[in-house]
Amino acid sequence: MAAKKRPSELQPSLFDDPLEPPASATETLPQWDQIPLSAQVPIPPGTYRDLEQLEQHCRVCQRCELAANRTHVVVHRGNPKAKIVIVGEGPGENEDLQGLPFVGKSGQLLDKILASVGLDPERDTYICNVVKCRPPNNRVPTQEEMDACRPYLLEQIRLVDPWIILLTGATSVRSLLGDKRGITKIRGEWIQWQGRWCMPIFHPAYLLRNPDRAPGSPKWLMWQDIQAVKQKYLELAGTTPPQPDF
Ligand code: URA
Repeated sequence: MAAKKRPSELQPSLFDDPLEPPASATETLPQWDQIPLSAQVPIPPGTYRDLEQLEQHCRVCQRCELAANRTHVVVHRGNPKAKIVIVGEGPGENEDLQGLPFVGKSGQLLDKILASVGLDPERDTYICNVVKCRPPNNRVPTQEEMDACRPYLLEQIRLVDPWIILLTGATSVRSLLGDKRGITKIRGEWIQWQGRWCMPIFHPAYLLRNPDRAPGSPKWLMWQDIQAVKQKYLELAGTTPPQPDF
């Protein structure tokens, strides 16, 4: 009998070139060999049993050209049981090197913003990106790349099952909601999507480029938005009465 290959040794494959299952998945995921690595073949909702399985698959993913230059696939950090999911655009240099999202300067600012309202990124949030591999020179991911990676994001959201989704910057809004409005137009607006509360917020990198804190500035607006997020979180947790809507 042929020796089982470890997932890290698996070659990406299509339906007609099946992926061999890791030993532990053989019984619980009989359709493992039908999980498509080609972007031409969709990944249906409900494909993954858990986030670990999704992550294993991302690690060997070749669904788009970003796979060619990655150091690491960047899947998530934070708490898989968190009620807040934060979606960034895509890994930068530090993220690609470390295999974790938002660990560079933008990530440090994101952590500070969360901490300013008492949210602990590792406990209270699950952080991920629209694309899991770094786009060259940090360019915006193409529509093709976003489409190839979108099923992973949708599965992450389904498996984490958050109350609130924070979309950082226009790219993540466009990728998840298909809304092409500019971020300055829609930031701070609650948008209901599939039974969840989504709020577009400024990308932390944008705040790093705009350090002014005066009323009406991007940083000031972010402060309003993150307070609204905390308020909604407490409301949904049932620990504070809803605020009057006027
Ligand atoms: N910017 C993002 O959008 N995501 C990261 O993970 C890092 C920087």
